[in-house]
Amino acid sequence: MSEQTKKVTTATLRALKKSGRKIVMLTAYDYPTAKLLSDSGVDVILLGDSLGNVILGYESTLPVTMEEMLHHAKAVRRGIANAMFIVDMPFMSYQTGTRDALLNAARFIKEAGADAVKIEGDLYIDAIKAMADAGIPVMGHLGFTPQQVNQIGGYKVAGRERAEALRIAASAKKLQGAGVFSLVLEMVPSSLAKKITKALKVPVIGIGAGPFCDGQVLVVHDLVGLYPKPVPSFVKQYANLSKTFKEAVSSFMWDVHTGKFPDKEHSF
Ligand code: KIV
Repeated sequence: MSEQTKKVTTATLRALKKSGRKIVMLTAYDYPTAKLLSDSGVDVILLGDSLGNVILGYESTLPVTMEEMLHHAKAVRRGIANAMFIVDMPFMSYQTGTRDALLNAARFIKEAGADAVKIEGDLYIDAIKAMADAGIPVMGHLGFTPQQVNQIGGYKVAGRERAEALRIAASAKKLQGAGVFSLVLEMVPSSLAKKITKALKVPVIGIGAGPFCDGQVLVVHDLVGLYPKPVPSFVKQYANLSKTFKEAVSSFMWDVHTGKFPDKEHSF
C-alpha cells in the first residue's frame, strides 16, 4: 500500500463496505507512528484510549484523561495526510451527560483536528444523536468494552451466550439508528460479527471478531511487537521490533564502551 491520494471520509468508508474492499484501521499515539501509518496507506488512524496501557503504562484505559488524549491527538494529527483520524473519548468524558459529551468531542475536533470520535457501549444514545446533529461523526464500540472492564470482571469474549449475542446485535442496530457512522466490534465470536456486519448499513470494524467484518483494527504496538507485555490471542504479530530495538541499543552500548562510536564519519 502507499499513501492515500484522497482524504478518507465517512463516505469513503461506506463506499468501501459496499465494494467489499476491507477497511484497515490501526492505532497511533504519536507523530512518527501516525506518519508511518499514513504513508503506508492505512485508511483510518485511531488515537485509542489504549494510550493508557500502551504508552502511559497504566493497567487499564480508565485513568486516561481528556488532557492526555488531547496532547497525543495533536501529535498524531501532525503525522496524518489523508487517512481518517478518529479519537477515543476517554472514560468519564461522555458518561456524565450529553452536554459533557458534546463539549469534550468538540475539543477533539477544534483543538486537535480529529475527523471523528469513538465512544463505547449503547447507553449514550442522546449524546451520539447530539454529536451527529452537530456534525461530529461518531464511531460506536460494542462487544468487549475496555472502559467497563471492572464491571465485566476482566478481559473476556462477549456474546458467546445466545442472550448476550442477541443483546449485542440489538445494540448495534440501536447505535446505527442513533447515527453512528461505523462500529467497532471487539472480542466477539466470528459468527456474531458476521451477522451484525450483514445486518448493518454502516461499516463494522473488528478486533478479535473474526474475518467477516468490513475491516480490521489492531493496536499497532501489538502488530509490530513493540509492547513489552503479552498480547491478546487474536493478535497476529508481523514483526518483533522490541528485539530489533534491544539489539540496536546493545550494539550502541558496545560501540560506546569500546570506543567505536563516534568514529570519524560521525564526528565534526
Ligand atoms: O483503544 C483502542 O485502541 C481501541 C481499539 C479498537 C483498538 O479502542
